[in-house]
Amino acid sequence: MGSPAQSESGLPIQPVYDGTSVAGFDADAKLGSPGRFPYTRGVYPTMYTGRPWTMRQYAGFGTAKESNERYHELVGAGTGGLSVAFDLPTQMGYDSDEAIARGEVGKVGVAVDSLDDMRTLFQGLPLDKVSTSMTINAPAASLLLLYQLVAAEQGVPGDRLTGTIQNDVLKEYIARGTYIFPPQQSLRLISDIFAYCHRELPRWNTISISGYHMAEAGATPAQEIAFTLANAKEYVRTAIAAGLDVDDFAPRLSFFFVARTTLLEEIAKFRAARRIWARVMRDEFGARNPKSQMLRFHTQTAGVQLTAQQPEVNLVRVALQGLGAVLGGTQSLHTNSYDEAIALPTQKAARLALRTQQVIAYETDVTATVDPFAGSYVMESMTDDLEGAVLELMRAVEDRGGAVAAIEQGFQKSEIEKSAYRTALEIDHQERTVVGVNKYVLDEEEPYEPLRVDPQIELDQRERLAALREERDGDAVLRALDALRAAARGTDNVLPPMREALRLRATAGEVAHALRDVWGTYVPHDTF
Ligand code: 3HC
Repeated sequence: MGSPAQSESGLPIQPVYDGTSVAGFDADAKLGSPGRFPYTRGVYPTMYTGRPWTMRQYAGFGTAKESNERYHELVGAGTGGLSVAFDLPTQMGYDSDEAIARGEVGKVGVAVDSLDDMRTLFQGLPLDKVSTSMTINAPAASLLLLYQLVAAEQGVPGDRLTGTIQNDVLKEYIARGTYIFPPQQSLRLISDIFAYCHRELPRWNTISISGYHMAEAGATPAQEIAFTLANAKEYVRTAIAAGLDVDDFAPRLSFFFVARTTLLEEIAKFRAARRIWARVMRDEFGARNPKSQMLRFHTQTAGVQLTAQQPEVNLVRVALQGLGAVLGGTQSLHTNSYDEAIALPTQKAARLALRTQQVIAYETDVTATVDPFAGSYVMESMTDDLEGAVLELMRAVEDRGGAVAAIEQGFQKSEIEKSAYRTALEIDHQERTVVGVNKYVLDEEEPYEPLRVDPQIELDQRERLAALREERDGDAVLRALDALRAAARGTDNVLPPMREALRLRATAGEVAHALRDVWGTYVPHDTF
């Protein structure tokens, strides 16, 4: 018999599995039935047999007007939910007319500075009917409140709004980097958001605790799940310490993972993650509401596995990755465009990405039954193996004092960097095949015309901001920002004064600066 292969997490994949691989397997304890504790088989009893996952394509570029047009196209093409990509100045709490924003306005996402921009972004879209995800972290409260203010203008009350803010700053310290405030102040703001949403926006998913970006930075599947769930435990502890009841906020926690091309391990990864989280919430935090124990998640196919070489081959990778996410029970899915390793996706590439999901949903039979791999020798073995590896890594984080302490010791970051380095060496040494890159390469790549961002966009956005600052009641804005600073200095929830400032057309950058004045900004130690 051949020697076992190694999975992405470094676990053995046996050439053949049989009954001995799952000897003594207790299906009741390990699986339960779909929609029942420990949710290994999925969070809903009917999963896709009732309705397919939400096809939620991440999109946004240029000004609010351009992105609004793309959102109408996506809704017209059948996308089930919106997913807003913001440009870096917006993600970092700066306005488009600040020097630091130069050259980045509208580049990797849409520029949103004010209530006016948010109103344009959702022009003609019924906010009581669409669910909107916003990939925004440190300034998440501002963008959520702007969304609520626009919905109110449409006559849609807060308790009808559905969607998600990513709002997961801990993973920003580990990977990605769009943090502003130090960890403790970030955690305070996040638990203020939990409390505010429980009161005002009860159907809103308050956080999307993400493993995706750590995976894109090089984390293995086991590291991705372990570091994400360790971050999640830190958020739960913080909210409980702030006086919230676990069942008041836990049902609205959500998660976000990657789907790699190694789909067997990815399906096992999702199943193990649900089982671990269900037990953590029931046994460690005493959650009694079943919705508090369900790990509901969004998946995006692996951007880092897209190649610039022979880009059409990415269509195959994305189809396999999307299939893995569906077989793993995702609630919402973004499939990458085949040209994204080169530039912002063209309209045709974005449509093909969505069509990939529609083929999986409507032309295959994988939605006809729930968790089709249940009971499989290989799948149950791999799910068990991954569960063990994840729990061991979660313990390593807890042994260092929990996620924030481990972050400040540089633990997660250094573990991920080691994995990334190992993968890079394997590719360089031809031990890991990347089709079109280190095998089956073309002597000459075919020409490709990428989508370009119009530099006029930044000038237009700056002009709109200048007009806004002229028209608004400047004194009222200054008073509202002072009230926000006072709340940040004290213990009151900062969202109500923040909403009033934004309603008076304070900009998102001015709100972030007001909080910087009180909380300061995070400077990573050099211990990493
Ligand atoms: N049986 C019963 N009910 C069902 C059901 C079924 N089979 N399927 C769905 N439902 C119900 C659900 O209970 C829910 O109702 P509720 O809100 O009252 O509970 C409703 O139908 C909607 O279903 P889901 O909540 O499962 O699906 P959503 O799509 O609304 O939400 C989510 C999915 C994962 C919970 C949510 O958090 C979400 O949409 N996340 C998206 C996050 C996202 O898009 N992130 C983008 C990141 S891009 C990025 O980071 C940048 C780049 O660098 C990668």
